[in-house]
Amino acid sequence: MTDSCQTEQPEGELVIKTIAMPADTNFNGDIFGGWLISQMDLGGIVAARSISKSRATTIAIDGMKFRQPVRVGDTVCCYAKLVKVGTTSMTFKIMAWANESGITHRKCVTEALFTYVAIDETGKPIPVYR
Ligand SMILES: CC(C)(COP(=O)(O)OP(=O)(O)OC[C@H]1O[C@@H](n2cnc3c(N)ncnc32)[C@H](O)[C@@H]1OP(=O)(O)O)[C@@H](O)C(=O)NCCC(=O)NCCS
Repeated sequence: MTDSCQTEQPEGELVIKTIAMPADTNFNGDIFGGWLISQMDLGGIVAARSISKSRATTIAIDGMKFRQPVRVGDTVCCYAKLVKVGTTSMTFKIMAWANESGITHRKCVTEALFTYVAIDETGKPIPVYR
């Protein structure tokens, strides 16, 4: 995957915008990585549903590296860019950007490829484009 985190601007559509809260901290006092992954995953689900017009579920997350810590009070934005559509799957590059108290220069915290599968009401894969 290209290193999009080196760019000045996020890529893709804004899918989540939230604030990192004290309840989401790890033992170092920084925001827990799992919280950030869940925000990115939720944003990806929003993007996937809008394409498949169906339920969708996460099948894979690839290539994640946490580059910067997220602090309590930071504004966190997740962006999703569609990079591949298969028969039942959709892969998005999802980037998380954060800025202190929502006012300082924003920084790319992490990015990864999230793949979702379009599913029916029983959880069975269905074509993205039906
Ligand atoms: C998602 C799920 C319904 C897919 O069922 P499946 O029988 O495994 O489906 P398949 O093996 O046919 O794969 C479905 C698609 O995912 C793709 N896929 C499978 N493994 C993949 C991987 N590691 N990375 C990227 N894509 C992958 C396949 O290529 C296929 O895409 P395509 O139809 O566009 O060609 C099933 O695996 C499942 O329910 N998993 C749990 C999902 C879940 O609970 N996620 C939340 C985590 S707690």
